[in-house]
Amino acid sequence: MGELDGKVIAVTGAGRGIGLSHAQLLASEGARVVVNDLGTTPDGRSAAAAAAGAIRASGGTAVADDSDISTWSGGESLVEKALSSFGALDGLVLNAGIIRDRMLVNMVEDEWDAVMAVHLKGHFAPLRAASAHWRQLAKETGRPAGAHVVMTSSEAGLYGNVGQANYSAAKAGIVGLAMVAARELERYGISVNAICPRSRTPMTEHLGLFDAGEGFDRWDPDNIAPFVGYLCSDASSEITGRTFVVHGGTVSLLEPWQEVAHLDRDSRWTVAELIPAAAELFRDRSPALAPFPDPTAAHA
Ligand SMILES: NC(=O)c1ccc[n+]([C@@H]2O[C@H](COP(=O)([O-])OP(=O)(O)OC[C@H]3O[C@@H](n4cnc5c(N)ncnc54)[C@H](O)[C@@H]3O)[C@@H](O)[C@H]2O)c1
Repeated sequence: MGELDGKVIAVTGAGRGIGLSHAQLLASEGARVVVNDLGTTPDGRSAAAAAAGAIRASGGTAVADDSDISTWSGGESLVEKALSSFGALDGLVLNAGIIRDRMLVNMVEDEWDAVMAVHLKGHFAPLRAASAHWRQLAKETGRPAGAHVVMTSSEAGLYGNVGQANYSAAKAGIVGLAMVAARELERYGISVNAICPRSRTPMTEHLGLFDAGEGFDRWDPDNIAPFVGYLCSDASSEITGRTFVVHGGTVSLLEPWQEVAHLDRDSRWTVAELIPAAAELFRDRSPALAPFPDPTAAHA
């Protein structure tokens, strides 16, 4: 018995890295998995087909999908693949990503557009297609669709990483999208959450930050997947609109933006008045942005 027996779950960008780990774990927990990826393996085969084949070879159920999820039609064909292959869609793990890092003064239009397309539109296009299906299902059956969506943000989006203006903006956008989707889809019984993973993958191995040490390898991408499996299970249905940082054996819950100080009066301020008054906002804290958190630290 797996925790996800009977479910159909689509994972974007699952041909390698963190997404491949998700697909393998979800299948090992009994889900039928749609493995989406438009990339190729180092020897030139379809990454999605290779991953789906490996899952089937180890006893799981999987089909490959090579849609480009950064397009509206790609999002729709991913959902159609789940429905035509397995007759259902119970979970959507939005994970596909690319990086085009550059200091913002040097960034070119294509680098900005490509990252926005794959991450932000690549989350929205499959989400929209899946949500239309779930709304229809809820209307037809009179019951909540009971599906689960897991999005993939990044601490780069939460804190702002130097050299990643495109990526950080897209990843911050994904957290905003997750909160809107959680609110809009609650009426259909759908949970929507976001994770910020940290692990050694083809995307991050060049950084040398996440090298395997002695003992437990904190940066193995397989460490992220169990929490995604949990978020795709009905045991976590009440959790929605939340953001987590996940790596190694750590799962951190983050609170969204919170007011920490305020100025308040019943009339409009002038600039001259704000010059002394605004200092009150920073009485207990630095006026400058806090440093980017250490990605190798134990907690978020
Ligand atoms: N690795 C980390 O430490 C880390 C940290 C924070 C966030 N993330 C996020 O986690 C996710 C997975 O990252 P990873 O490290 O496994 O990266 P990766 O580069 O190893 O894998 C990403 C996969 O997405 C696929 N992909 C790219 N564009 C696609 C498209 N348009 N349609 C379908 N598939 C597409 C790629 O072919 C690739 O197989 C990404 O969203 C990334 O931004 C990773």
